[in-house]
Amino acid sequence: MPSILLLNGPNLNLLGTRQPEVYGSETLEMVERSCVQHATSLGLDLVCMQSNHEGALIDALHAARGTHDGIILNAGAYTHTSIALMDALFSVALPAVEVHLSNIHAREEFRHQSYISRAVIGQICGFGSQGYLFAIDALARHLSGEANTE
Ligand code: DQA
Repeated sequence: MPSILLLNGPNLNLLGTRQPEVYGSETLEMVERSCVQHATSLGLDLVCMQSNHEGALIDALHAARGTHDGIILNAGAYTHTSIALMDALFSVALPAVEVHLSNIHAREEFRHQSYISRAVIGQICGFGSQGYLFAIDALARHLSGEANTE
């Protein structure tokens, strides 16, 4: 069974209480549970992890090589700052999808830039927690070889 790592970065452990008008009222646990359910329904294994620490996220990406077949990453604010996370994604060379709950392009200018985007198949943003489900669909298609993107 193909396996996906769902990795959430800083402050996403506070989902549900953190600016609910921007990020929604679901907790991370609720989001992760529906992701596992959705992945299972598509015949995929999904492992969830969250960290507030850049190095821990990098370690998790390194460990994904040989363990997982694809990555879904919401790097939170590190999206806009972390060349190290981008390099880690390039280094492990696994298909990855970038997710943001909010539409980062409609927000402050400093959120428009994503280093992560350079190293992923595609970016999904602005659809709230549904974006994670779209990312699972996209990776499932990619891993089955049906997608026309590399
Ligand atoms: C976010 C968007 C980032 O700009 C922000 O720093 C976050 C969450 C999102 O999911 O919309 O922490 O990645």
